[in-house]
Amino acid sequence: MKQPLIAGNWKMNGSRKSAIDLIASILTEAYQFPKIEMAVFPPFVYLSQTEELLTGSGVNWGAQNASPHKNGAYTGEISLEMLKDFNCKYVLVGHSERRRQFGDSPVIVAEKFAAAMRAGFTPVLCVGETEEQHDRGLTWQVIQEQLEVVFELKDNHSSLRDIVIAYEPVWAIGTGKSASPEEAQEVHLAIRNRLGEYDWEIASKIRIIYGGSVTPENIADLMAMPDIDGALVGGASLDAKKFLEIGRKCNSLY
Ligand code: 13P
Repeated sequence: MKQPLIAGNWKMNGSRKSAIDLIASILTEAYQFPKIEMAVFPPFVYLSQTEELLTGSGVNWGAQNASPHKNGAYTGEISLEMLKDFNCKYVLVGHSERRRQFGDSPVIVAEKFAAAMRAGFTPVLCVGETEEQHDRGLTWQVIQEQLEVVFELKDNHSSLRDIVIAYEPVWAIGTGKSASPEEAQEVHLAIRNRLGEYDWEIASKIRIIYGGSVTPENIADLMAMPDIDGALVGGASLDAKKFLEIGRKCNSLY
């Protein structure tokens, strides 16, 4: 059985003090949720404190982005090698905020995904349609295109076991309007079936997590769906009480 993943994407929020306080609060209870995996994605500059506090705790961490380049004249960028210094397990790739606000094109997302795999990270590939695409009935077409980066690596077959897909409908992010569990399940199942065309054994093991206005109130219904294997939580992950409540509810379902 897949271990559910409850991950908190902090985005560009907090301060050194609030990051430390948030992690300390998470640690007071996270050990009580042995059936699930919890992870946080703090801003780069707090990865050092994150590593220090979380090492050995069972709670994992990752980066919100990474350069596909090894090193060189890329002002403002952070390489995967640098992230290794902080023992990050995960790296988010293709978050819709990066695609839409920072020009992460499908080609760049594919490069980042491949580089993260090569460097031994577990990439969390974010996919999801905009409201307009959703309303025009283009959801599956958009997601299928975004999933192509996975298939570009098909020669490297067995390592695909170590990826996570996050379905995050853009219209549900930060809006308080989550996709319904049934709606999300339909997309998750389609993603799994698509991966399964390629290798069913691997597809059945890959965690497909949902993101977009996840709260302590809606997590149980989402997790009741057979193909929802966890959540990528934004806003609610900045509040230790809410994030832990999401973890607790998820743990009690398994
Ligand atoms: P919210 O939970 O704030 O909607 O954000 C979701 C998200 O973008 C996580 O990556």
